[in-house]
Amino acid sequence: LTSQNLTGQKILVTAGGTIEPLDPVRYIGNRSTGRMGYAIAEEAARRGAEVVLVSGPTVLEDPAGVRVIRIETARQMREAVLAEFPTASAVIKSAAVADYRPAAVAEQKIKKSEDDLTLHLVRNPDILYELGQKKEHQVLVGFAAETCKVEEYARKKLAKKNLDFIVANDVSEADAGFGVETNRIKLIDRSGRMTPYPLMSKKELAGIILDHVAEVLEK
Ligand code: PMT
Repeated sequence: LTSQNLTGQKILVTAGGTIEPLDPVRYIGNRSTGRMGYAIAEEAARRGAEVVLVSGPTVLEDPAGVRVIRIETARQMREAVLAEFPTASAVIKSAAVADYRPAAVAEQKIKKSEDDLTLHLVRNPDILYELGQKKEHQVLVGFAAETCKVEEYARKKLAKKNLDFIVANDVSEADAGFGVETNRIKLIDRSGRMTPYPLMSKKELAGIILDHVAEVLEK
């Protein structure tokens, strides 16, 4: 059995969704509430780690003993994550990062007209991919939120982003994924080994994910 103690480890966690402004009053966002990432940050702190949580907008309170950096956009999340990354021993990226943002942010509120409105979106940086390129000693954990072919897509992300393991998250059912207190995941490690878990609370799954982080850190 691996030790659950994370004393002496700096764990960087991302949570929530990024929001991408269109104008001063509107944005493009997603359904992440931050619950999964906050549960991980809280449990890591309880196990003795120094925890930095980079969080998108959420109604959740700061977990006890965790340093919280609040951001809004994917580019702000990238800045915060890259600043903390060199001194981190593990990174757990549970945030739902917007892959695209509006090409331009209007300075004033966009007025409606009789015409349809077309938005031009441009690619955001893939933060986790960048960490995978820069990684030295760090343990890198990604999530894959998918509505179909969950395991196949998760395996592709694991390889492409150079991760130690990935949390495959089927978000097609109402009791798992975005918003709710429960989740259903599969862990897939570098060797290809896949472990499925039944429906559990996000708190319990946070413990399981951190057990695996501790195991990789010990190697
Ligand atoms: O916050 P909750 O309401 O509790 O919901 C939890 C959750 C469903 C958001 C969470 O369990 C989850 O699955 N998080 C990942 C969501 C996601 O957007 O995954 P993805 O498959 O699009 O991204 C893959 C990985 O790359 C993720 O670790 C993501 O943080 C990272 N990524 C993605 C895009 C990008 N531009 N930069 C990234 O770093």
